[in-house]
Amino acid sequence: MTAYQTILPEQVTTWFRAGHTHQFPAGAGATVKYGNRQIAVFYFHRNRRWYACQNLCPHKLENVLGRGLIGEQDGIPKVACPLHKRTFSLETGENLNGDCPPVAVYPVRVEGEDVYIGFAD
Ligand code: FES
Repeated sequence: MTAYQTILPEQVTTWFRAGHTHQFPAGAGATVKYGNRQIAVFYFHRNRRWYACQNLCPHKLENVLGRGLIGEQDGIPKVACPLHKRTFSLETGENLNGDCPPVAVYPVRVEGEDVYIGFAD
């Protein structure tokens, strides 16, 4: 299994083109593949912000976070796993309602109508 690791903006060495903006649903998630990793991408259309995290939920190791509900908690953008509702910050990856390990989060950049995710490999 590939290890997922949070990438900070200053660590990015590769901007992977994940797709065209219209390929991503507004106010929800989608999943893209980068090598053998699955990455969940979220578009918060109200404030036009984009986030990305590993698709793998650390609770039961299911690739489902891209199908989770998104929202905010105290101003923190978050995703709730569709299976058992563990909730993760999309800024830090922290589990906001339990003791799961954090998920890896990735920088997202939009240039024109292209969506890029930052990796460090
Ligand atoms: S698998 Fe995600 S909360 Fe259980």
